[in-house]
Parts: sequence; structure tokens; C-alpha cells
Amino acid sequence: MKITVNAMCNELAADSVDCVIFPLTQESWATLASTDFPYLDADLLARISSDGEFEGKYKQTLLVHGDEHCRRILFVGLGEEEKRTAKHYRSAASLAAQQLCQRKLTTWVFDLQSIGSQDVTTLVDWLWDGALLEIYRFDRYKTDDETAVKTCDIQCSFNGVADEDVSLVQQALSQREMISRGVWLARDLVNEPGNVKTPEYLAKMAWDLAQQLDLTCTILGQRELEQQGFGALLAVAKGSICPPRLIVLEYQGGEASDKPIALVGKGVTFDSGGISLKPGEGMDQMKMDMAGGATVIATMATIARLELPINVIGVVPAVENMPSDRATRPGDIVTSLSGKTIEILNTDAEGRLILADALTWVGQKNPELIIDLATLTGACILALGHHASAILSNDSALVDDLQQAGDCVDERLWPLPLFEEYAEQIKSSIADVKNIGGRPAGTITAAAFLQKFVGDTPWAHLDIAGTAWQDKGRAGQPTGGTGVGVRLLVEYLQQQ
Ligand code: BES
Ligand code: MN
Ligand code: ZN
Repeated sequence: MKITVNAMCNELAADSVDCVIFPLTQESWATLASTDFPYLDADLLARISSDGEFEGKYKQTLLVHGDEHCRRILFVGLGEEEKRTAKHYRSAASLAAQQLCQRKLTTWVFDLQSIGSQDVTTLVDWLWDGALLEIYRFDRYKTDDETAVKTCDIQCSFNGVADEDVSLVQQALSQREMISRGVWLARDLVNEPGNVKTPEYLAKMAWDLAQQLDLTCTILGQRELEQQGFGALLAVAKGSICPPRLIVLEYQGGEASDKPIALVGKGVTFDSGGISLKPGEGMDQMKMDMAGGATVIATMATIARLELPINVIGVVPAVENMPSDRATRPGDIVTSLSGKTIEILNTDAEGRLILADALTWVGQKNPELIIDLATLTGACILALGHHASAILSNDSALVDDLQQAGDCVDERLWPLPLFEEYAEQIKSSIADVKNIGGRPAGTITAAAFLQKFVGDTPWAHLDIAGTAWQDKGRAGQPTGGTGVGVRLLVEYLQQQ
């Protein structure tokens, strides 16, 4: 999809746009309905009000035709004044954008007159965030013009911004667009089918971004991985005709002496399960098994665009997990990059294998801390469903910081424990460790496996199996890849 977005302050006149949007709390609706409203006939407004069809309740919307001053008016509810939070503004704007895009109405004005006295820059940022999250569509493969969702050429103005606030709001709007472009990139990569987004494709994508932005890209191919001893990663890649890649993106916005923050993302471009083949039903969804990697690539691009004053290194082990005569067998033992031997008892527990080597590799860069993101376990979906990602860590301050960042952007994290007893479940009788820990606490034993490869470096693991993909779209989150983690990591990194 190509979206042209143009956000501005106080620029578009109501009579020149498709729709004026009024985000309203219950209280501000009551005030508005009882005063002289310039865009609607007083009788009509009185009828809407007495019908109770719109009351400003959270998630309520009402689209009406206006007069010559304003073609259409969309009222969106924010709920009770007291209870509103960032989430209310984001959802209201997502719902508004959804309604307008469905009707192919592309020029909008958000009218802020009635929005209250709160910090206008923050409110506009929340609204624009919600709108931009919604307007994304993955329509690259729709060649049939009749049915294809038309590209939205969105022009949007936020009217009612005080003169002294205009430049700050403008700046917030353009930063928000950079972050949203990161989310869209992550979603695009996740939605791309497995036949297209091979490990090589992901590597090329990262390489091209580095050419455009202030990033350094290093790619390790099959031969380098063999020479350096990435035994665990290579064991997963073995069954596929598509050669593996270790993708490294480095951003230096801080002092050369500042230790980098390391981001590591699982990049399994398709997870068939390997010889421990997955059941056929729903297997198509396993093209999303590189969502952690997509998030890392998109986050690196975004922080380069935002020019954050920190050093960050992003690592994506990219492989395809396939069965074949060359594939790893259950029972095989491999030597990982760390030197630890791993008994692979289930080839479908592949994410932890590629991450083990990626974590070892990035650990050698002496990072300040490591954050990894992975669609690692089905068990995580059983535990938390689709409303929160699991966080497991060896550092409680890091958990607090990440959780706080997640709350700010509505990408919630919920902690699971990493008591040392869990590691008993992954003890192997013939190797140093085995790659499965049985049915109990599957998300935790997977993290306990990763922990063996991070040493004492502060580290947090985010299991995004339940949040990286949405089967049924909701406002702000179209069906498919969600891009989860991009906004969270950017928020966290902005606080550093
Ligand atoms: N990629 C899957 C986990 C997954 C499942 C992500 C569903 C998103 C949705 C992972 O590689 C996997 O297959 N995990 C196994 C581990 C098991 C074999 C120990 C699982 O969760 O079943
Ligand atoms: Mn798997
Ligand atoms: Zn997987």
C-alpha cells in the first residue's frame, strides 16, 4: 500500500474537506448539543441529542451530513471526562479513520475546539497514532481493481490549535508519522508470504534500509555462519533450500564509548515445524514466525529516522524451518556458538535454537542490555491470549521500564517467573541442554533455555506469539501482522 499522509495544523477549512471529526467526551457532547453549533441545523442537533443515538460514550460514533459549511460531520465518543486515557483517544481516532476509509472519504479535519484543556500536543499525538494505526492495509497482491481497497490519500488537519502550540504539534505529528511508518513496515514484512520473504529477502530489506538511513548493515551468510560455529542456527536452516542469514543493523547516535542496547528478533520466515511437522490446519499463519525480526528491523529504521542519541544493535537470525532429507532429526545433538551442546528433541522448538546463537553472538559485543522478541511458544497464547505479550527477564528494573513503555503505547507486557527450578525441565541426560521442557510452563521453559545463552547481561525476553498476529481485525489493528513491539521499543528507547 502507498499511503500519502499529510498532517497539519489549522489549515484545512471545514467546507473544503470530506469530513470534520469531533472527538467528544460525554460532558463536552452535552455542552456542544446545548450551545450554538455552527455546522448543523439546531433542530437536527436537538433530535440527535434527544434520540440518544450519540451520547459521547466510548466507541460510539455518528456520521451525519452537514450543510454547505461542512459536508459531513463525524462525532466520536471518548467516554466520561474523568476516565479517559490515551487508549480512548487512540480508539476514537481509529474508529473515525475506519468509518471514513470505508466510505473513501480522505480529507479530514479533527476539530479540537471541544477537546478540553489538556496538553494539546499529547492529545493530537494520541489521535494521530490511532488514525495511522488504522489506515494500514496489506493490498500489494490485489490486482483486481474492482475489489481492491483503494489507496487512501489522506490529508488531515487538526484545527483549533493555539498559535503558540502549532510548531510543537507539527513536530509531534511528523514524529508520529515516522513511528507509524515503522509499524507499517513491520506489518508489511509479517504479512508478506513465505515464498517471497526468504531469509535473503529480509537481509536485502535490512541492507536497503541501511543505504537510505544512518545505519550500518552486516550480513552473515551460510559460509560465515559455518566458519564461526553457529551450530544451533544452522541445524534449523538445514532442511530448507533457502540459505540462512544473520542480519545485523547498527545505529550509532550516542558516543562511540556508550555501550549499545541490543535488540534480537526471531526471524523464522516460515515455521513448518521441520521433521516434527505441524498439523496442516492454520499452518499458513506460520509465515508470521519472523515477527520479532520484523519488529527489530523496523525499530532500527525508526530510531535512525528519529535520530535518537543512543547506540543500538539489532540482530535478526533469519531461517526457514522445513522438513527434508537434509533436515535435522529429533534426537540430533548440535554444538551451539556458545560451545554448549543441545539435544534437539523436537524440531518445532526451533526459535530458541536460532536465538541461542544470536544471543551468544550479540553478547560478545558487550551490550548494556539485551531485549529479544519472538513468537516463541503456543503456550504463551494459552496463558495470555491476544491482549498482552509475556515478559521474562533476569532484571526487574528492565521489566519495570519495558512494562511502563508498553502501558504508554497500549502494547501491554505481563511478567512470568523464571525461577531456577524451571531449568530442571530442560536438562538433557546426554547433552548440556535439551530444546523442549515438556507440557508444563512451556513459555517459561523456552525462556529458561534462552537464559542459558545470555550470561549475566541484563536481558528481557518478550514472547509475542499471541500479539504479533490478529486473526480478526479490530479498530487500529487490521487483520494480519500487528507490528507489535515497534511502538513499545521506540517508546522505551526514547526514555533512555
Ligand atoms: N512459532 C512457534 C510458536 C507459535 C505458535 C507462534 C503459534 C505463534 C502461534 C514455535 O516455533 C513452536 O512451534 N513452538 C512449539 C514449541 C514446542 C514444540 C515445545 C509450540 O509452542 O508448540
Ligand atoms: Mn516451531
Ligand atoms: Zn517458530
